[in-house]
Amino acid sequence: MALIQSDVQTKDLLQSQAHIWNHIFSFIKSMSLKCAMELQIPDIIDRHGSPMLLSELVEALGVKQERTQFVCRLMRVLVHSGFFVKQSVSTTRGADEGYLLAPASRLLLNEDPLSIRPFVLAMLHPIMMDPWQDMSKWFQNDDLTPFHTTHGTSLWGPFVQEPKLNKLFNDSLTNDSRLVMSVVLEQCGSVFQGLDSIVDVGGNTGTVAKAIAKAYPNIRCICFDAPQVVNGLVGSNNLTYVGGDMFEAIPNAHAILIKWSLHDWSDEECIKILKNCKQAIPSKEKGGKLMIIDMVVNLDEGDDKLLETQLLFDMVMMSCLTGRERTEKDWAKLFIDSGFSDYKITPILGLRSLIEVYP
Ligand SMILES: C[S@@+](CC[C@H](N)C(=O)[O-])C[C@H]1O[C@@H](n2cnc3c(N)ncnc32)[C@H](O)[C@@H]1O
Repeated sequence: MALIQSDVQTKDLLQSQAHIWNHIFSFIKSMSLKCAMELQIPDIIDRHGSPMLLSELVEALGVKQERTQFVCRLMRVLVHSGFFVKQSVSTTRGADEGYLLAPASRLLLNEDPLSIRPFVLAMLHPIMMDPWQDMSKWFQNDDLTPFHTTHGTSLWGPFVQEPKLNKLFNDSLTNDSRLVMSVVLEQCGSVFQGLDSIVDVGGNTGTVAKAIAKAYPNIRCICFDAPQVVNGLVGSNNLTYVGGDMFEAIPNAHAILIKWSLHDWSDEECIKILKNCKQAIPSKEKGGKLMIIDMVVNLDEGDDKLLETQLLFDMVMMSCLTGRERTEKDWAKLFIDSGFSDYKITPILGLRSLIEVYP
């Protein structure tokens, strides 16, 4: 029997083959980006200040001349992925092309206060990548997460304390919080108006709390996190650090903020945290509220890339933690199950939203 019966079938088959090949090698996009981060290519090109020739890049990288064609091929993928652009330059030897940063690479510069470089290096660290090799094994065993299957422990255990990974995580969160808070304060600062105190639950080293404390000197801000995270950190006039366990109790305040934390936890774990939040704030009539910054997955999202990124984040949660990314329906159920009465979603943060939840 002929394997292919018509031209249409041939075209479909070849398209399917290309689709599968593209998927097989999609990891190369991330690993090429990681390689560029480790070699600090965006910083080198940025420091150069004008379109950088391949020969100049090779020299600045300190790699051997013989590696020039390999650098060229790495750069070709990164240009194709939208991290760099090529621009014509005239040299003493005639016309040539040089590399410049594309807009996305601004967020990859080492010293940029909003840099996503630490997040790239944290997410693509072997400790985080290895569980993907065990995902199918995990579907057939009873381990809590693929991370447990690979490493025999949770991400919160020894790994997050591993100094290099720990620094990458903390730097990722700090830089992300700077970006998020600049948007929140600029575009919906009114959510803080009328509050006299706020607790940032799982506030890490306090970037979010510091931004609120600075913008609203009359609001008493508490950064609440695990004792090993906040011990020794020094606050200011209207900012204090409190160590504790959000599964046990949360300090009382007029409002509570939880940024990028609930997606780490299962529904059951979230309900425990949310119930503790509700206990810590006054009634809706007295202005009590909870503010969540997290993703709201929109399965009808018109922009396929945004939805795909949310779905990929959800898989990251599945591989290393018990959490998930949630649709509005998922969030609404969590709020009802933890005793809240109402909520309002403001999608101002790209892939993430600000969700105000009322007791
Ligand atoms: C994904 S990070 C988010 C940090 C911060 N909200 C941000 O967006 O930059 C989760 C935070 O929750 C903290 N955390 C984890 N378990 C906790 C617990 N049981 N009680 C208090 N904080 C906890 C972690 O130390 C970490 O700082």
